[in-house]
Amino acid sequence: MRGLAAACLISFTMTFPDEDSPAAPADANYDEAKIPKYTLPDPLIEEDGSPVTTPEDWPERRAEILALFEEHVYGKTPEAKLPGLHFEARKEVPGFLDGKAVLKEVRVYFTEKNERPYMDLMLVLPADAKGPVPAFLLLNFSGNHSIHPSPEITLPDAWMRETSKTGDLVKDHRAQEAARGFKASRFPLETIVSRGYGLVTAYYGDIDPDFDDGFQNGVHPLFYAEDQKAPKPDEWGSIGAWAWGLSRALDYLETDAAVDAEKVAVLGHSRLGKTSLWAGAQDERFAVVISNDSGCGGAALSRRRIGETVGRINENFPHWFCDNFNQYSGNEDALPVDQHELIALVAPRPVYVASAVGDEWADPKGEFLSAKLAEPVYKLLGKPGLGEGVEGQPPVDHPVGETIGYHIRTGEHDLTLYDWERYLDFADRHLGKGE
Ligand code: GCU
Repeated sequence: MRGLAAACLISFTMTFPDEDSPAAPADANYDEAKIPKYTLPDPLIEEDGSPVTTPEDWPERRAEILALFEEHVYGKTPEAKLPGLHFEARKEVPGFLDGKAVLKEVRVYFTEKNERPYMDLMLVLPADAKGPVPAFLLLNFSGNHSIHPSPEITLPDAWMRETSKTGDLVKDHRAQEAARGFKASRFPLETIVSRGYGLVTAYYGDIDPDFDDGFQNGVHPLFYAEDQKAPKPDEWGSIGAWAWGLSRALDYLETDAAVDAEKVAVLGHSRLGKTSLWAGAQDERFAVVISNDSGCGGAALSRRRIGETVGRINENFPHWFCDNFNQYSGNEDALPVDQHELIALVAPRPVYVASAVGDEWADPKGEFLSAKLAEPVYKLLGKPGLGEGVEGQPPVDHPVGETIGYHIRTGEHDLTLYDWERYLDFADRHLGKGE
């Protein structure tokens, strides 16, 4: 078995992501032999036990799985959009990236009021485009100014996380000049535009600041019923809100003639990879869905309980999922779904799952298995999924797949040029070249 052999060759070094991760827990399990025996729900068996055998049966089963994820994992998204949603063009810089790109800044107001919460979208589009371009849409962790050093990018005025590690990048919870471009390695803009794609991004904290404040800030209060103070146990947490924000960004892109809104790949890294999967599962307008190192609550199977577990994630990040998800802390076998069914919700659209060797916390093998176990749904719908010959996890740095793409690369938990090159190749295959 290629997969097993690859897994044995991997030497794991524990590293933690650079955002706001708690210290490495001493008692986390990384030993395959210690995984309790588990049985996964079958995406092709309905709740009442009847098998799904034809493509015509799938929409009903899909709706059932989606409802289970809403009720038990991410929470229900209240409404697609509010009637007052509107957009404000704020800036256009034609000579961006030495003339290779056009920079656009657009503010998305979620209601009729021109006040927070709003989301500042930044678009970087190839200057030489002959028509609407396909695009990658992803949220960023640290503000639009962090993705490139250019002073043309507006410094955000949103709340930013300030930790011992942020130094002079953030002061009084506000972005500082020194932070321009400090996350540029995750956004290879020149490569993206030279391949004919646009890049669309926004700061995730514009939608919901990433801390547990009982959902008083961000977009949640916009949807509270009278006297409601917090989401109900089956209503959205922060991941649900961020995913909703991605759909509002797509609402804008549908109005921008420079972008082909039918060719938008939604992408996310880490907690934002969990988010891109949930966005792509719910909103079928996303043509391609990409999860980069998304781990627990993203692509990794919860029942494997390797690295980060449901209990651990609920404890450390109580605002990410819906309150009902707490019932499954240390109780994964009771979950009515598992994460391969999240990938299956994207079918028949192309989906890509990526892992990194040094990201054991995210359970790379569990991420692969989810992709593999979603394959029967793709096949039912007439798509090859991972395709012929991909049975086990492929060797490191050997991307595989057809409608489902997968790679595990050398290195740590990160979004790298290697990852982007694979996503660009995948997009070329499924969206047509960006020309
Ligand atoms: C923490 C968390 C992960 C998450 C990651 C990130 O490590 O435990 O679930 O993916 O942060 O978003 O950076």
